[in-house]
Amino acid sequence: MEFLNFTHDQSAADLVAAVYPTQPLAYIHSYGCQQNVSDGERIKGVLIDIGFGLCDSPENADLVLFNTCAVREHAEQRVLGNVGALKPLKEKKPGMIIGLCGCMANQQQVVDKIRKSYPYVDLVFGVDGIDTLPALLAQKLQQKKRILMDPAQRPVIVEQMPVCRDSKFRAWLPIMYGCDNFCTYCIVPYVRGREKSRRSADILAEFKQLVAAGYKEITLLGQNVNSYGKGLDENIDFSDLLNLLCAVPGDYQIRFMTSHPKDASRKLIDTIAAQPHLCKHLHLPVQCGSNRVLQEMNRRYTVEQYLELVEYARQRVPGITFSSDIIVGFPGETEEDFQGTIDLVKKVGYMQLFTFIYSKRTGTKAAEMEDPTPRKEKTDRMQRLLNVQEKIAMELIHRQVGQTVRVLVEGFGRAEGNLVGRLDNNLTVEFAADESLIGSYANVKLTDSRATVLLGELDQ
Ligand code: SAH
Ligand code: SF4
Ligand code: F3S
Repeated sequence: MEFLNFTHDQSAADLVAAVYPTQPLAYIHSYGCQQNVSDGERIKGVLIDIGFGLCDSPENADLVLFNTCAVREHAEQRVLGNVGALKPLKEKKPGMIIGLCGCMANQQQVVDKIRKSYPYVDLVFGVDGIDTLPALLAQKLQQKKRILMDPAQRPVIVEQMPVCRDSKFRAWLPIMYGCDNFCTYCIVPYVRGREKSRRSADILAEFKQLVAAGYKEITLLGQNVNSYGKGLDENIDFSDLLNLLCAVPGDYQIRFMTSHPKDASRKLIDTIAAQPHLCKHLHLPVQCGSNRVLQEMNRRYTVEQYLELVEYARQRVPGITFSSDIIVGFPGETEEDFQGTIDLVKKVGYMQLFTFIYSKRTGTKAAEMEDPTPRKEKTDRMQRLLNVQEKIAMELIHRQVGQTVRVLVEGFGRAEGNLVGRLDNNLTVEFAADESLIGSYANVKLTDSRATVLLGELDQ
């Protein structure tokens, strides 16, 4: 692994200044997971570094960039639909540059399709190419031809990239990139490449900057944070990294995602128990409640091992909550397998569940598996799962009523005059308060719950 430091591209900046009579504007839309949103913030930073401003609609933009997600077919179709919708605008404003980057751009068949069927897309680059964007743009502005980069994976980590964060109080902090797990349904290892960890000193330096800048919540990101540290020269694991960061003084909380159950260790749970800066919540995607399907998915844990970990966490960290991702309708999933998922969901009692119907991804192992279950059956299973989960969540959430809790105030609530705050355990509460509280901590008494939303009163 090679570590590089980002360098400012003055010649690209000069060219941008020469080509555009007034400051050019960029519109960046990120789809998909937090990792992509975080990449989007770096893309914005890099563009600002060469003289761009930002705008929030394609109509006013000189550069439109779609930072895409490939995890499910639906996600890809949405992106292509949105790209297609820009065609009339491009005809009116031929100087506008339309670009596509992110995970879709790391699939050869997508790049080929863009080359052939989307002639008004001028620029394509993959997830490892953010630092090269100034040079690619300069090339585009000079040569006036399409710059479509074929997918390539670089065994490189680029540090000190400029970043333009979307929030003033919640920050994403990537600690690693890529994934080596090859769950059989998943495209991420193919589009994001091999797992690579940032050096702890680089993470710590960025973390300290965030705390000094007043960030109240810092979320550490990786596809599998529990395998942090592999391949580094230093001898460090994820719990060690958490301890290192928690030693930084300040008023902040740390979240992290995603924890792969096969690597989430007792040491991690003990660290959560010991460190007040760590939120008492674990996103621990189980995917399925059948050992047979888990094996077919290459998840490398059993339902029993998963439940054991949950039980250990409940004992060590009173009040800890769990959330999960679940795939319904994996190839060959039987009604019995699905009942296993329902049983598991009931046993754990998740506060939140992110549920997906299996989507076939070309190039993955599962795409080769027999998948005889009709779509209708899969949507029916999904609905049954959602019904079960809704009841569980409503009950668990209602049980919180009566407590007074510290929340981070995130923004406006649904009702006029209400704000919304997030509890340590990742639930949200609506309460009446002045908007000046947004971005700070407040104590809130939980007075009631409506469906899955808590209601509360400011406790002064
Ligand atoms: N690295 C994380 C998340 C990866 S993608 C993890 O291991 O949990 C986020 C979620 O998308 C996954 O947890 C999975 O539930 C879902 N997902 C991934 N590939 C999918 C597919 N082909 N069809 C349906 N859902 C999928
Ligand atoms: Fe995909 Fe599995 Fe890696 Fe998560 S751990 S990104 S589900 S391959
Ligand atoms: Fe999507 Fe890429 Fe994230 S495929 S889920 S944006 S890693």
